[in-house]
Amino acid sequence: MGRLDDSVAVVTGGASGIGAACAERLADEGATVVTIDITGSVDHLLDVRDEAAVEAAFASVMSSHGRLDAVANAAGVAGGGPIHLLDEDEWDRVVDVNLKGTFLVDKHSAIHMLAQGRGSIVNIASIEGLEGTEGGSAYNASKGGVVMLTKSIAIDYGRRGIRVNCICPGGIDTPLLRAITDSDGMDLYRERLREEHLLGRFGRPSEIAAAAAFLASDDASFITGHALVVDGGFTAGLRVGLLEQLGM
Ligand SMILES: NC(=O)c1ccc[n+]([C@@H]2O[C@H](COP(=O)([O-])OP(=O)(O)OC[C@H]3O[C@@H](n4cnc5c(N)ncnc54)[C@H](O)[C@@H]3O)[C@@H](O)[C@H]2O)c1
Repeated sequence: MGRLDDSVAVVTGGASGIGAACAERLADEGATVVTIDITGSVDHLLDVRDEAAVEAAFASVMSSHGRLDAVANAAGVAGGGPIHLLDEDEWDRVVDVNLKGTFLVDKHSAIHMLAQGRGSIVNIASIEGLEGTEGGSAYNASKGGVVMLTKSIAIDYGRRGIRVNCICPGGIDTPLLRAITDSDGMDLYRERLREEHLLGRFGRPSEIAAAAAFLASDDASFITGHALVVDGGFTAGLRVGLLEQLGM
């Protein structure tokens, strides 16, 4: 018996990385999964910035399945850089996909979940929505917005039976991360970034999907408004070399 038997889940960003892993894990847990992405082999090909398309996709889920129990909101893009070098168009692209897209997907999920009086929304934010990082600008601002949007929605709908949480992943081995770390001249950056994870490695998409399945399920029935850090220890604190000096 799966934790999500007889439930219907929508996963955005379902064509790749964390979203694809969430789709697989939620299905393994028993959910009927409907995938959304702007590309790839998914149930609904759409841009999460397009409200009419998002609204139509959720209406289609309801007419086909009659219910909406869980949403894992993983569509997102990387981008940004020091702001004196950052074009307005790039700012808009990153903030619109990551924050406005999350708003629109959450909005149209909430409309149906409110009518049912139940549901669980899981947004994929980032540790970069909790802490600043070099060149983070647009990306970090968008993810900080996702964390705060999550908490605010949780307040609005807690008494209406809807739980809303987000996951703040550390570096996860996906095409999004590899596009940065595997590009020319980024070897040192990749090694330093990996080293900042106390477990000494990047995470796997399945490790974020496991957290998403937990938050989507009744195992998390008393958890809402939470930003769950899943980062291999990246944000635990500073390492400044004391143990090395002690020969450890
Ligand atoms: N990989 C990491 O290290 C990491 C860390 C923290 C947070 N995240 C977040 O996790 C989420 C998933 O990222 P990932 O690493 O799996 O990346 P990914 O590139 O593998 O997957 C992202 C998916 O989102 C889709 N997408 C992008 N723009 C879209 C749009 N406008 N409409 C619909 N779909 C769109 C892409 O097509 C892609 O399939 C993102 O929100 C990302 O910011 C990733």
